Amino acid sequence: MTFETHGLTPRIATEIRTDAETLVSGQHAKQIREILEQRGVVIFRDLDIDDPQQVAIAKTLGNTVASEGEGGIYKVTLDPNLNARADYLKGSLMWHSDGALQQYPNLGALLRPIRLSSEGGDTEFCSTYAAYDDLSDEDKATYEDLRVVHSVERSQYYVRPELPYEEIKMWQQTPPRSLPLVWTHKSGRKSLLLGATADYVEGYSVEASRALLAKLRDWSTQPQYVYRHKWQLGDLLIWDNTGAMHRALPYPEDSGRLLHRTILEGEEPVM
Ligand SMILES: [Fe+2]
Repeated sequence: MTFETHGLTPRIATEIRTDAETLVSGQHAKQIREILEQRGVVIFRDLDIDDPQQVAIAKTLGNTVASEGEGGIYKVTLDPNLNARADYLKGSLMWHSDGALQQYPNLGALLRPIRLSSEGGDTEFCSTYAAYDDLSDEDKATYEDLRVVHSVERSQYYVRPELPYEEIKMWQQTPPRSLPLVWTHKSGRKSLLLGATADYVEGYSVEASRALLAKLRDWSTQPQYVYRHKWQLGDLLIWDNTGAMHRALPYPEDSGRLLHRTILEGEEPVM
């Protein structure tokens, strides 16, 4: 069966042309994992798979498929009628990576559109591998040993700037985590660890910390590091969460937009 790859931008995202049966068989799983690590995002058009096939494909790619949602399928939507935690998902409109606070951040995820909004709702991905690679040697040396404290609480201020006290206390029940700014992977490659959960740089003043985190977010999300996916029904998209950030672009909450997500659990702690 055919298995053709086409780069979509120079630094991030590859489209693979194949069929559902070939993917479920897992015969190209190793190759797809390699492409994911190198290119951050993999897209299949006109695949037209169902939920069990999505989970089956995930199982060929990861050691563990997270059991969130029903049978490994989680509903990504801003519609509270479809997902009781829709409010929390508004944070997904900001650049972030998934599971940054976990011991093992998610390896990645599979996303498949079920219903689309007639306006908005594209998803953007940026390569934090490429963004790191292009830093000057001087910047790399400056950032090498910096640590950033991440918290869920921080990410919620983007959704509700005047977060009520009771909610702050609730979000603070998830302990913050100190992470290196530069993640050195087992492979030896390095990526930047940023996103909406990034609260402050340890040892920096409040102003210097905010400025550096914004500077690096702006740097990492320049057009040459970003792939913007325009969804079509029938798509399957997979991304490597360890070397990329992502965000959804705004869409009407009542549009019914719904994606089915299957998470590939993390295999590598942040060192
Ligand atoms: Fe996300």
